[in-house]
Amino acid sequence: MTRSFSVQAGGILDSFIMQLAEEGSKPGMISFATGLPDSSLFDLEGLAGSAREIVLRSGKEILQYGSTAGYYPLRERLAGYCRRKLGFDASPENIILTNGSQECFDLVGRLFLNRGDLMAVENPGYLGAKQCFSAYGPRFKGVDIGPGGIDVPGLEALVKEGAALFYSIPNHQNPSGYSYSDQVRRETASIISGSDCVLVEDDAYGELGFSGRAGRTMKSMAPDNIIFTGSFSKILSPAMRIGWMAVPGWMAGQAVKTLEASSLQPGTLCQAIAEDYLSKTDYGAYVRRLRKVYRGKMEIFTDLMEDYLKDYVTWNIPDGGMFIWMKSPEGTDAMRIYRSCIEKGLAVMPGEPFHISGGKNTIRLNFATPSEEQMRAGMKILRSACQESDPRAKSGL
Ligand SMILES: Cc1ncc(COP(=O)(O)O)c(C=O)c1O
Repeated sequence: MTRSFSVQAGGILDSFIMQLAEEGSKPGMISFATGLPDSSLFDLEGLAGSAREIVLRSGKEILQYGSTAGYYPLRERLAGYCRRKLGFDASPENIILTNGSQECFDLVGRLFLNRGDLMAVENPGYLGAKQCFSAYGPRFKGVDIGPGGIDVPGLEALVKEGAALFYSIPNHQNPSGYSYSDQVRRETASIISGSDCVLVEDDAYGELGFSGRAGRTMKSMAPDNIIFTGSFSKILSPAMRIGWMAVPGWMAGQAVKTLEASSLQPGTLCQAIAEDYLSKTDYGAYVRRLRKVYRGKMEIFTDLMEDYLKDYVTWNIPDGGMFIWMKSPEGTDAMRIYRSCIEKGLAVMPGEPFHISGGKNTIRLNFATPSEEQMRAGMKILRSACQESDPRAKSGL
């Protein structure tokens, strides 16, 4: 049968991740490419205890259909967390639980994007979210991001041009690891609050700041125009697929109805397990441990970069999250480094697919997943690939 796919399906962006998954899954391949958390940090005993407890204690209700907005006690917990830790007011009615925060992005696209609408995204920006929004056919335009955050006048111009949405990651951004300064947060919130543009504040890495949270939430400064999204993927486990969003009151009813139309409800069983687990865990101590482990891994990784790569490339030292943003000399093509690494047994993530424009000389590296041994072996490969692609080496400089 030859049937063409819908315009909507045909418009979905390539993620590059499929290609990488295929090439990067060869036996023995080391990976600095993914966004996976370190699986040695999963609390197997604790989660198994909560799973057993929940199914045996309240399985008759928990295994049944539940509410579209998700498991109420976890929504209550998250509303309290918004008030106490994130600085904005929320009740359980403002909190919607989803199957991963990826489903939040899909819901936002469904709620606010008409085909051809202008949508502002960070340049570079998180590919998974752009892929999700692309199903709704927006015209993406980029707002450049650097070490202190976004180019605020660039955002202002797009908001004036009528951008329907702006998707942002103010803390330890994927892919760059950059965080917004306090001033950029304030200016961004002020531009958005006087406009018809809805801002999505994605906090996927917000809890993983090495010295605590990187700054105030923009949601606390412009609550009516901002959807705040969170995820347990990098904290508890990505397979549990627990994402959440805090939405303004005016949006909540339509958001829940729209979500019901696409998925009826999220996976409340995992949500109940997470709630039981969190109720028995010293969350502050738990998160401090994650931060400590990831800071330690980042330091080992960047020390190795210093040993192996300093003659060829530059990079940032992140203050949280999972990523390091590497740049080869201006004018070089990082795709060559990527291809050479793949041939030699290392997967890295080229930076260009994260961009609306530019970024040919960039590569994203994940320091959170590899072991120290893998870091060392991978770094040797990366050095050799950088050496081969370095124009100065060829010209004898
Ligand atoms: C910035 C960012 N947002 C959202 C997600 C998706 O998370 P989830 O597993 O909650 O769908 C990721 C996953 O890597 C991410 O990097």
